[in-house]
Amino acid sequence: MPAPGRGCGLHTCLMLLCVVAGSRQLSITEFAVPSTVEAGNNVELQCRHSDAERVDYVKWWWTPLYAASEDQNRVLLYQRLTGHAAEIARKNVESKDNDTIVLMNLKSYDSGVYECEVSNVAEVRRHQELIVFSNGTGIELNVSKIEDGPDEDDAEEVLVLCEVHDATPLPKLSISVDDIEIDNITQYVTGGDNGVYDVFANLTLDSDDIDEGVTIRCELAYENTNVSQSYTSEITYTSGTALSTTETPEDTTSSEVASELKNNNGVSYGSRWVLFAASLVLTILNNLL
Ligand SMILES: *[C@@H]1O[C@H](CO)[C@@H](O)[C@H](O)[C@H]1NC(C)=O
Ligand SMILES: *[C@@H]1O[C@H](CO)[C@@H](O)[C@H](O)[C@H]1NC(C)=O
Ligand SMILES: *[C@@H]1O[C@H](CO)[C@@H](O)[C@H](O)[C@H]1NC(C)=O
Ligand SMILES: *[C@@H]1O[C@H](CO)[C@@H](O)[C@H](O)[C@H]1NC(C)=O
Ligand SMILES: *[C@@H]1O[C@H](CO)[C@@H](O)[C@H](O)[C@H]1NC(C)=O
Ligand SMILES: *[C@@H]1O[C@H](CO)[C@@H](O)[C@H](O)[C@H]1NC(C)=O
Repeated sequence: MPAPGRGCGLHTCLMLLCVVAGSRQLSITEFAVPSTVEAGNNVELQCRHSDAERVDYVKWWWTPLYAASEDQNRVLLYQRLTGHAAEIARKNVESKDNDTIVLMNLKSYDSGVYECEVSNVAEVRRHQELIVFSNGTGIELNVSKIEDGPDEDDAEEVLVLCEVHDATPLPKLSISVDDIEIDNITQYVTGGDNGVYDVFANLTLDSDDIDEGVTIRCELAYENTNVSQSYTSEITYTSGTALSTTETPEDTTSSEVASELKNNNGVSYGSRWVLFAASLVLTILNNLL
């Protein structure tokens, strides 16, 4: 028998070995949450993990980006406790195999951090921010001739107005004439509830300065540089005025999977632990012999 105070009791040592053996397996092997998605789409969030049999539970959490501060706590979307069916905790969420969830018909307020939590004795988590973007009601671009303004000359002026309602996230407008961006346009952004904004920009040009047939373009983009999508609307200027809006969404990627990192977050007790455990076994055996 081991001398009192030497090593650990056999029972304790075996428990320790079990803990080491059980938890060194657990890792999230596949995690996919796109960083940006256009409103109105469905999006699939994946959280695959190793060691399916030993898992106690898998949960998906959401921390809203735009919630009023008093309810900014994370919200449970999904949980699957071992031996039970998967449960869905929110209306616009559906579940698939392997703890994949689908967020349906995304709205601006679905923006936020999505986190997957997998637990047995150890616990592993992965998270990613997802931003829902939208052109809201679309770009309204108006170009009209107005009387001579308060400037020196007598030339007629051309007023360019560009307006977007209910865009998300924080939008910014730019106006270009004949492919040259006008710097220093003034824009007015209002709103912000649930991350939804109205934005308005205007500009006056001397009609002498713009030629017949020139393209006037308004572009909607986002302050958050992770949202690479932009939208444009353009009008061909004719001095006969009566100009209308056309709109073409810019052909950039609408959603990209920012994180599909694999095997990056496992609880890894390195070989030091294995050696330590092995040496404990040897010590016990030595003591028993
Ligand atoms: C779920 O995972 C299992 C085991 O890896 C795999 O065989 C199966 O195809 C997966 N199901 C889906 C829907 O991906
Ligand atoms: C807004 O975005 C949608 C989706 O990309 C696009 O189809 C539409 O042309 C854009 N403009 C308006 C006015 O909805
Ligand atoms: C542009 O013109 C349309 C109709 O001509 C009008 O309904 C709209 O309010 C105008 N938008 C702006 C930003 O002036
Ligand atoms: C930009 O606009 C501001 C305010 O309208 C004006 O004071 C400033 O001179 C402008 N700058 C340029 C480079 O046009
Ligand atoms: C742009 O709109 C603002 C607010 O409506 C107005 O005060 C300003 O005079 C306008 N500027 C031009 C150049 O039309
Ligand atoms: C852009 O995305 C990366 C990765 O998700 C994140 O770390 C970064 O903070 C984001 N930038 C902004 C401006 O949100």
